[in-house]
Amino acid sequence: MPQIIDASAMMQQAVTALQQGALVAMPTETVYGLAGNATDDAAVRLIYATKSRPAHNPLIVHIASIADAYDLAHIVAGSVAEKLMQKYWQPPADLNDGAMILGALTLVLTAKENSALSKLLITDEGTIALRLPHHPTALELIAKAGFPLAAPSANLSGQLTPTRAEHVMRHFADLPQPHYILTDPCPCHYGIESTIIDARGERLNILRQGSWQGEDFADIAQPEKNTPIIAPGMLSRHYAPNSRLRLNASNQQADELMLGFGKIDGDLNLSPAGDLMEAAHHFYDYLFQLDQMNSPDYRKIIAVAKIPAHDMGIALNDRLARAIAR
Ligand code: TXA
Ligand code: MG
Repeated sequence: MPQIIDASAMMQQAVTALQQGALVAMPTETVYGLAGNATDDAAVRLIYATKSRPAHNPLIVHIASIADAYDLAHIVAGSVAEKLMQKYWQPPADLNDGAMILGALTLVLTAKENSALSKLLITDEGTIALRLPHHPTALELIAKAGFPLAAPSANLSGQLTPTRAEHVMRHFADLPQPHYILTDPCPCHYGIESTIIDARGERLNILRQGSWQGEDFADIAQPEKNTPIIAPGMLSRHYAPNSRLRLNASNQQADELMLGFGKIDGDLNLSPAGDLMEAAHHFYDYLFQLDQMNSPDYRKIIAVAKIPAHDMGIALNDRLARAIAR
């Protein structure tokens, strides 16, 4: 059974567990990751087995510095990928300043053949997904481990994404991994997964909408227009609670639980002020809470108020649409 431990007091135990090939659930500024040594085939296989994740769905590799990206991927000087990294991957000077958090951009790049990375992390197309989280706990864990960390979201495949240590525990309580779930006072600032961009070409191909909004990236490159979102893991039902959902609800029916937004209130309200960033921060946590209220028989439907489809609302509506897919 996993153990929830305080990141600041017990960081060394977590580092040792990773070095011995075990898994550790780590908070990032987006969501919790189920982390293992990205240079070790056995640790990567353990991640897939623990999550029951289909083998065709590749993992994101988490690094602690931009220099690490050059060891793992082909990055051409002056390329769009390099400009994005330089603009958006610089960790803020004060890592504890939540306002400066901006590590929510994952880049798909061409993998270097001869790197230390497990070959299991390189797709048939020869790509890897790299992310440089800015969360101090995640950065410290990667740096002290001494190798990059492969980390999908720390949930069973297809189910609700965790943003708190208790959520991770609910998924893995009966399993031998992860050994540790790190907790700290500021777990997941954004609350929604990173934005994934294929940055191999001169135009950006957005593979998954997420926490990174990058309003002003137009000076670096234009996004591809009208391309379907194609991150392999996004094709099927995903992000689903055990309860059924009813979307775009304007009121709560008898025998429903309700997740409100703005003026449309409910048992819980994502943001009474209608703030999409606040809504994202609470999104998975409130779905977890409502699902828990509805357990063990999940007889009620969770009605979800309409969330405007702009800015962070694009990612929220994307997650809801996939959660109701069959
Ligand atoms: O915020 C996040 O991105 C979190 C934290 C832990 O970093 N991670 C996360 O991982 O959401 P996961 O495994 O739940 O989702 C990763 C997505 C999947 O849809 C996968 O198909 C896609 O990234 N992906 C990974 N590697 C890829 C690659 N080389 N090319 C295209 N898509 C890739
Ligand atoms: Mg996931």
